[in-house]
Amino acid sequence: MKLTVLLICLICTAPVYAEDKISTKHGETLHDEKCLNCHTSKVYTREDRTVKTLNALSNQVNNCMKGPAKAEWTEIETRSVIHYLNQKFYKF
Ligand code: HEC
Repeated sequence: MKLTVLLICLICTAPVYAEDKISTKHGETLHDEKCLNCHTSKVYTREDRTVKTLNALSNQVNNCMKGPAKAEWTEIETRSVIHYLNQKFYKF
């Protein structure tokens, strides 16, 4: 009985996980929805930008996202945004 329930759960959630991959495009959409209210993309390219490493970028995105932006992203979504910012602007 329990096994049946477990199997049904697995079948229902499988397609969701299959699509849930890190994606630069998805990262860009999420970013543009939530992250352009306070600063434009210029903060990522300004000369005295504060983020100097990939790790710092990850921390900064997490801080901005959980604090001011109130974006409730999954781990994968957050990483998609980090990936997008790194590909487009930071290039670590
Ligand atoms: C409520 C305002 C607000 C929102 C919304 C916001 N941020 Fe920020 N963010 C800031 C402030 C303030 C700074 C610091 C700017 C400074 O140092 O001049 C900052 C800085 C940053 C930096 C560092 C830039 C550098 O110097 O290299 C990154 C990266 C960043 N934000 C990402 C994000 C992301 C991703 C989101 C969306 C989840 C987001 N921000 C949403 C306020 C915000």
